Amino acid sequence: MKQFLALVLVLAGLSSPVFAQKKPLPKAKPSPAVAASLVRGKALYAQHCLSCHQADGTGVEGLHPPLIITNEVLGDRPKMVLAVLMGMQHRDIKGKPYSGAMPPMDFLTDQQIADVLTYVRQNFGNKATAVNAAEVTSLRKVVYLKGTRYNHPAGPGDGWQAP
Ligand code: HEC
Repeated sequence: MKQFLALVLVLAGLSSPVFAQKKPLPKAKPSPAVAASLVRGKALYAQHCLSCHQADGTGVEGLHPPLIITNEVLGDRPKMVLAVLMGMQHRDIKGKPYSGAMPPMDFLTDQQIADVLTYVRQNFGNKATAVNAAEVTSLRKVVYLKGTRYNHPAGPGDGWQAP
């Protein structure tokens, strides 16, 4: 599984150089572009994520995981993008099972996914780098490669049907 994630990252890296860049941590005051992304992201979160992950990102015990997220996930922007593009199910998070299912939300545009994840990554006590639309564009290409959705380790696992 780890190897597969590495492969996806390599593929994503090939199609776009964005992953090669190291971004500085967000400053206390976000840039105007990030500030605008956060405003849009908040509204998108309320519309598409809040019902499961809750307004304060604490989730629902045993059902929907908190988005006060582990370093593992926050450090890994592609993993979060893939969770939104592909959905998630049947995976233990920090050793705990969640019986809820996160639907794939690839109907959101690349910019919308970047906005909502930037919001998540900079709220609920999370302090992580913004996600940009170009990263999502690259990952979407990878996800749509035949078979990739089904096999990816961030994917939903048992019972998930390839499109
Ligand atoms: C219908 C409920 C539901 C909705 C809506 C939903 N999620 Fe989820 N989300 C889940 C569940 C359940 C999981 C864990 C799935 C598992 O156990 O495999 C999850 C997992 C995640 C994870 C991975 C967490 C981790 O620590 O690995 C992220 C990130 C995430 N969701 C973000 C979002 C965002 C952003 C949105 C809105 C665009 C969203 N979710 C909408 C239910 C939902």
